[in-house]
Amino acid sequence: MSNDIQDLHKKVKDILYSLTGITLADNKDIMIANRLEKLKRNTNNNDCDINELLKEIKNGKYVSEFINTFTTNKTHFFREDFHFEDLRDRVLPEFAKSGKEIKMYCSAASTGEEPYSMKMTIEEASAITQKQINSTIIATDIDTNVLQYAANGIYRFQKSSKEFPSWISPQKYFKKRINKSLIGDEVLIKVKDNLKKDINFSKMNLNDDTYPFDNHQFDVVFCRNVLIYFSAQDQNEILKKLFRLLKIGGTLYLGHSENPHDLINYVKRIGQNIFIKTKDFD
Ligand SMILES: C[S@@+](CC[C@H](N)C(=O)[O-])C[C@H]1O[C@@H](n2cnc3c(N)ncnc32)[C@H](O)[C@@H]1O
Repeated sequence: MSNDIQDLHKKVKDILYSLTGITLADNKDIMIANRLEKLKRNTNNNDCDINELLKEIKNGKYVSEFINTFTTNKTHFFREDFHFEDLRDRVLPEFAKSGKEIKMYCSAASTGEEPYSMKMTIEEASAITQKQINSTIIATDIDTNVLQYAANGIYRFQKSSKEFPSWISPQKYFKKRINKSLIGDEVLIKVKDNLKKDINFSKMNLNDDTYPFDNHQFDVVFCRNVLIYFSAQDQNEILKKLFRLLKIGGTLYLGHSENPHDLINYVKRIGQNIFIKTKDFD
């Protein structure tokens, strides 16, 4: 790789880190090249000098476009479904019994499949316990495009896919929309209003120094498949900030390849990356 390209990619990594905290590994050169092409298209700057475009971004122009281009948003409904089973069988029955509202935080919501899966799980637990469980779900992400997608709540769904676990009937939560241009048995499905009404989507950067929430505000925090984009040190800092938001006795769910770092002495591990907060971090 030429020195010019190395310099260019270093500039991209530095800007991305300063705006989001995301650290791109050394083997991401092809990805960076592809995303720079996408950035040019997304900002209608197809013929521009890329160094000039990066200068403009550093000066505050096209910041959202830059962030939205460089985030990776892969997700699906009921990803790591054992977390939702734990929520249904262990956490939610307590709220059904006490009648208290459960407050949940989804800290990297992407296109919305994760917070909607949380809400479907609450509805299922209400049906099982025959008690209406009241809930609020705050769902944040740094990428404004995915937040818009999530708020629209329209998804491609392949009838033959196994995306939903056997204990969920998609027709209970989604309206089917016919779209003839889709392929095979794929249809568009739209989230019903009752699934949407207790979810609040907003933009938040996990790398910010402080978060706009209170200590001990949440009973449950989901932080899954996002820490992997940060350095070990920054993962630790983010986890400590998220941990303050969680009540003692509350549950933290992490993604399959993420670990609790310094929190390990302040939690009880009860399953695959399921942690109960036992005390506050000093
Ligand atoms: C791979 S998706 C994971 C989505 C979901 N949590 C899951 O497990 O399926 C990672 C998400 O983290 C978001 N993200 C990346 N950096 C972030 C930051 N600094 N603050 C908030 N969200 C961030 C991305 O925009 C992306 O939507």
